[in-house]
Amino acid sequence: MTRSIIDYTQRIPNNVDLNGDRTLQRALERWQPNFLSWWREMGPEGSLDYDVYLRTAVSVETSGWAHYDYVKMPDYRWGIFMRPAEAGRTIGFGDHKGQPVWQDVSGEHRSNLRRLIVTQGDTEPASVEQQRHLGLTAPSLYDLRNLFQVNVEEGRHLRAMVYLLHKHFGHDGREEADAMLERHSGDTNNPRILGAFNERTPDWLAFFVFTYFTDRDGKFQLSALAEGSFDPLARTTRFMLTEEAHHMFVGESGVSRVVQRTCAVMKQLGSDDPSRVRAAEAIDLPLLQRYLNFHYSVTLDLFGADHSSNAAIFFSTGIKGRYEENKRTDDHVLKDRGYSILGLENGELKPRDVPMLNALNEVLRDDFIGDSVAGVGRWNKVIEKAGFDFRLKVPPKAFHRKIGPLASAHVSPGGSVMTDSDWHAREAEWLPTSEDRSFVASIMGRCVEPGQFAGWIAPPSRGINNQGMEFEYVRFN
Ligand SMILES: [Fe+2]
Ligand SMILES: [Fe+2]
Repeated sequence: MTRSIIDYTQRIPNNVDLNGDRTLQRALERWQPNFLSWWREMGPEGSLDYDVYLRTAVSVETSGWAHYDYVKMPDYRWGIFMRPAEAGRTIGFGDHKGQPVWQDVSGEHRSNLRRLIVTQGDTEPASVEQQRHLGLTAPSLYDLRNLFQVNVEEGRHLRAMVYLLHKHFGHDGREEADAMLERHSGDTNNPRILGAFNERTPDWLAFFVFTYFTDRDGKFQLSALAEGSFDPLARTTRFMLTEEAHHMFVGESGVSRVVQRTCAVMKQLGSDDPSRVRAAEAIDLPLLQRYLNFHYSVTLDLFGADHSSNAAIFFSTGIKGRYEENKRTDDHVLKDRGYSILGLENGELKPRDVPMLNALNEVLRDDFIGDSVAGVGRWNKVIEKAGFDFRLKVPPKAFHRKIGPLASAHVSPGGSVMTDSDWHAREAEWLPTSEDRSFVASIMGRCVEPGQFAGWIAPPSRGINNQGMEFEYVRFN
């Protein structure tokens, strides 16, 4: 049973009637202290006593679900929320299309569903770990608060996945839930599951580009699961998507404010010369392009192999759909449809047709690409308005890939296949160099006076929850 109003009188706020299942409630309450010690050890550095102006979910309805107030992050009410069940919901695609959705997991789908939930769940604490040092170099109180908001919500997303594991996967589920707190981002012995979540997020520019691209991968994965036949997972991910929107906003607006500031500096200087821009302690646009190239390509890899029998199984069994499955007008079974994927043939990139069922990772990746390009266009509008010719762009999908057949090719941002030695000779033009990273680190001092912003980023156009720029979004104690 779910309600749209969340019960905050319980230790674990929820709308899934946790009270009605004492065993489950106790299991989750046993996991909670482990989560909190993980947060203390691996969560935002030095932040335990801060009072942060955070939003907390108070309802699962789309309108007006958030309540804003000061909270110490360890006291954040990480709850378990699902969108209310849709009466009579049926499976929208695959071999079981038209049958009622499942409220529990049957034996044959158990290991695939567990794997999807664990892979999604693992990314949530991973990004908190990746971002844990950023508070020390925050460009403003506003940005610091946004970082912490993203962090607590990723913590909540982890708990949402842990709830599903505990409730539906018995002993294995409990073990997987524990393992979520044991793997760590970048840990050589016990790393996070997916590559992009073991990369460092060393500075705020990386953070903004990461939340723009990598949280957007989250949006697409969650959307595909939200279509699925396992109703508790679908309803859980639907609610997560409402939180995810803010994470991508932080990324898009963050990059936009960097671009805005850089353009203002270039105007002042009457020059777009990167060395002069850097001397003025702003981020030159070619450097931003290299960050974009890196995070974009690493994120493309998250969608998995372009040709995958698992993807076909996930779809046919109904556990993972396509992005906006219900808006598509085909038969939603896809048995006799093809899809064009890019491969390497005699040293050249060539499209080839494969059965669509096997190409569903590629379908999702292509949807992601379409969605990513839109925001890049909005950043370019800022540059154009300021009167400069530079344009940011996403590189071709074969650029800097580590997964799938494209991983065996070196491809330039212009789309040409290169030899190993040519690639290495020019790599520094296209991916962040250690010099880029140390320059970025050198200009990112902590700026946390109310109303103040670091010199490399413009203030946002409005505050959080109608608060002004001078508002004390974080209080240090
Ligand atoms: Fe998340
Ligand atoms: Fe996120």
